[in-house]
Amino acid sequence: MRQMFVAGNWKMHGNKADIKSLITGLNAMSDRAGNAKVAICPPALYVDYVNRSLSASNIELGVQNIAEEPVQGAYTGEISADMVKDLGCQYVILGHSERRAIYKETDAEIANKVDTAIRSGLTPILCVGETLEEREAGQLEEVISTQINAVVAKVGINAFKNVVIAYEPVWAIGTGKTATAEQAQEVHAFIRNLLAGYDEGVASGIIIQYGGSVKPDNAKELFSQPDIDGGLIGGASLVAEDFMAICEAAG
Ligand code: G3P
Repeated sequence: MRQMFVAGNWKMHGNKADIKSLITGLNAMSDRAGNAKVAICPPALYVDYVNRSLSASNIELGVQNIAEEPVQGAYTGEISADMVKDLGCQYVILGHSERRAIYKETDAEIANKVDTAIRSGLTPILCVGETLEEREAGQLEEVISTQINAVVAKVGINAFKNVVIAYEPVWAIGTGKTATAEQAQEVHAFIRNLLAGYDEGVASGIIIQYGGSVKPDNAKELFSQPDIDGGLIGGASLVAEDFMAICEAAG
């Protein structure tokens, strides 16, 4: 039986004052998550501040990116997986569509980062998803398969025992246009099937989150689908009440 998992992707939002009030709210309401696993992924610079403010023992930490290089070294401006682990994080979001589109991260780079994360003992949250143009051109399955197969080719299917997948249709991110529960379920089932082609045990155990305009009022329906195991939450993770309501829907 897979555990539901809700993670908050704060993206590049927040300052010390905002974070203090957000964490105060999360600390007060963390019980609402029930049996669901919960993580928050602040900007890396604030991870330590968040960690010191967080008293809720059921909320874990993650970041939104790491360097491809596994070790310390002369990589100005980069943050290594080991450093992230050292600061108390368990998760790293990789392959987010904003990094693919704005920073031109390729499948090969993302696969290298997934490999680096796993070797450092982090759990990657690997994001995949299609644009509206790709969906309308009938390329959805091809796009998702290419994104996932590139990572399997690098790390091997067994490593996916330590990977979370987040299906985030690009057209649903930050737009208020959520995929319907049926649309999301269809793609989640496709992803699980694709992985079953490699290894049935890995496919049935892997957590597949949905991301894209998840809000308190649509979370329950999305999370009740058989292949949707929680969510990766953007905007709504910046409001303690909304984020905990979403966690409650998963718990
Ligand atoms: O990674 C989460 C994300 O891209 C979804 O963002 O704001 O649509 O919930 P949002």
